[in-house]
Amino acid sequence: MAPPVAEAPPPTTPKRSSLLKKVIIFIIAMIVVHGLMVLFAWLIIKPRPLLYTVEDGSLHGFSLANDSLNATFDVTLRLDNRNRRMSLYYSSLDVSIWFRGQMLAFDQTGAFHQRRRNSTLIEVKPEARSLRLMRDVADALNRQKKSGNVKLDVRVRARLRFKLLMFKTWGYHLKAYCSPVVMHLDPKKWFKRTPCDVDL
Ligand SMILES: *[C@@H]1O[C@H](CO)[C@@H](O)[C@H](O)[C@H]1NC(C)=O
Ligand SMILES: *[C@@H]1O[C@H](CO)[C@@H](O)[C@H](O)[C@H]1NC(C)=O
Ligand SMILES: *[C@@H]1O[C@H](CO)[C@@H](O)[C@H](O)[C@H]1NC(C)=O
Repeated sequence: MAPPVAEAPPPTTPKRSSLLKKVIIFIIAMIVVHGLMVLFAWLIIKPRPLLYTVEDGSLHGFSLANDSLNATFDVTLRLDNRNRRMSLYYSSLDVSIWFRGQMLAFDQTGAFHQRRRNSTLIEVKPEARSLRLMRDVADALNRQKKSGNVKLDVRVRARLRFKLLMFKTWGYHLKAYCSPVVMHLDPKKWFKRTPCDVDL
């Protein structure tokens, strides 16, 4: 008597593959629907980048001796929100002044709200008081001072939330970098507006 022949495995493969097919079709459909929703939301909201510009900058009480600096940097920033449907809630705006990799001064605003399609001027006055400078930084700053103007970097950091209809997003960190911001020692000299790179 021949031993019983092992039976072929039950034909589960066709069933399984049709289930797999359904799952794949479902996933693709979800991706397409999700993509369309994002596309419609995008078309309705039409998000536009925030624009930052240094509108004005001037130096006051500049005094540099023994590698120690006193100075006040008056900075006027223009924050441009061109969005038609999103207003902005800033928790704060931090502005710092840098020269050759050393931070010279810092100032901060309080919280504020910026409406849709609004352009706001923000004035800050970062101040250096008996700030010790690195030797080469002091030398370079002295040389520029003698030439009548100093080329600075203005850095902005902000925390903000977007508001769309009645919904507020979570908090975003924004960084803006404005360079070179040329400040004149002679207050009568014209300031050249400086656009900033904004990174959100
Ligand atoms: C900066 O100001 C302080 C007083 O606020 C003064 O003692 C110091 O000598 C000044 N430094 C320079 C470099 O002018
Ligand atoms: C710089 O140092 C010299 C002596 O080391 C001192 O006479 C002078 O007052 C200092 N200048 C400032 C502005 O602190
Ligand atoms: C932007 O909003 C501020 C404060 O709400 C207001 O003072 C200013 O006039 C507005 N600017 C424009 C261009 O609408």
